[in-house]
Amino acid sequence: MSLYILVLILCGLVFVSLIMHYGLAAFGLLPDATTVQTATARDHFKMDYGFILNLVLLAAGLVVPAFNEHGTAGDKDMQTIELGGVSVPRIGQGTWHMGENAGQRQAEVRALREGLDLGMTLIDTAEMYAEGGAEEIVGQAIRDRRDEVYLVSKVYPHNASTQGVQTACERSLRRLGTETIDLYLLHWRGQYPLSETVEAFERLREQGKILRWGVSNFDIDDLAELDEPDCATNQVLYNPEARGIEVDLLPWQAQHNMPLMAYCPIGQGGALLHDTTLQRIADKHSATTAQVALAWALRHPGVIAIPKAVNLEHLKQNADASNVRLDDDDLAQIDAAYPPPTRKQSLKMV
Ligand SMILES: NC(=O)c1ccc[n+]([C@@H]2O[C@H](COP(=O)([O-])OP(=O)(O)OC[C@H]3O[C@@H](n4cnc5c(N)ncnc54)[C@H](OP(=O)(O)O)[C@@H]3O)[C@@H](O)[C@H]2O)c1
Repeated sequence: MSLYILVLILCGLVFVSLIMHYGLAAFGLLPDATTVQTATARDHFKMDYGFILNLVLLAAGLVVPAFNEHGTAGDKDMQTIELGGVSVPRIGQGTWHMGENAGQRQAEVRALREGLDLGMTLIDTAEMYAEGGAEEIVGQAIRDRRDEVYLVSKVYPHNASTQGVQTACERSLRRLGTETIDLYLLHWRGQYPLSETVEAFERLREQGKILRWGVSNFDIDDLAELDEPDCATNQVLYNPEARGIEVDLLPWQAQHNMPLMAYCPIGQGGALLHDTTLQRIADKHSATTAQVALAWALRHPGVIAIPKAVNLEHLKQNADASNVRLDDDDLAQIDAAYPPPTRKQSLKMV
């Protein structure tokens, strides 16, 4: 970013000085005005050439961020994906553990708003997080920015009955301070028949209280049993330490054009932050371990990652992670440290 500003200022200064030079020369105000006015064709060519060169430099100043690896997400476009018929960023914001501590509320609200500024406009929350506290934080953060946000929330399995879904969703809407949740998920499978929960979701859709619905922590057999083309996503644990889904679930969702939302993408609670393999790769790319973990999850085109961050520097790194491109050697190093699964594993969840 600083390089960009520096180049822009330098080009701007040279450009302005040239304009002034031409202006003064035109009015005969330069000390050597006669020289300028009587310049030969070759001198004019030199001046025009210099003028054009400066225009080129100015343009170069505008595109420098495209080559600046350390640029923030504000410099580049966030990658997007179609989810439930809407284009959403591939890096969103998680909210687990937000709303648990009254002293942290202000920082959490500010973080979510900063994340929106950085393009992470998909926010994932749940009635479970701080028993509604996280939804309240989200509600406060998006109060005047609802239109910018793609809002995801989740219903507890013990509320997944016909009446339970209705009541839980209305409670979530009140806490979120909105009339509609963009995507409403069953947090994990519980005691109620899937058909009953789906019916309740569809009723909420008819009422305009949700736009789409989906599931979370569903393994491939659960999805097959659900057998619902209207299920917009499945949100599951995915990071280098938990890659069992690569055998079947991930390809299945890709084949069915169902984006996969990867939770705990940098290890649960940031468990992979000090991983030596990720650190080595991060050093090579002038990136951070969190960015490498996010880039690793995003190498699959159908994946959306939802890291949670309150620290502003973390937010900037996360928003910029899709600009870190891992090469074959990086991927091989991660495979060596965290071997890809060779056979079906039961779905891990936290
Ligand atoms: N469906 C489910 O069952 C389920 C389960 C778990 C989670 N989730 C969702 O997935 C989201 C993400 O999972 P998570 O919150 O467990 O884990 P996470 O996002 O993998 O990790 C969060 C931790 O990592 C830190 N962090 C984030 N970005 C960082 C960066 N660039 N550099 C260094 N540290 C960084 C955060 O610190 P700071 O906060 O201090 O910045 C926080 O301590 C949740 O918030 C939730 O929305 C869903």
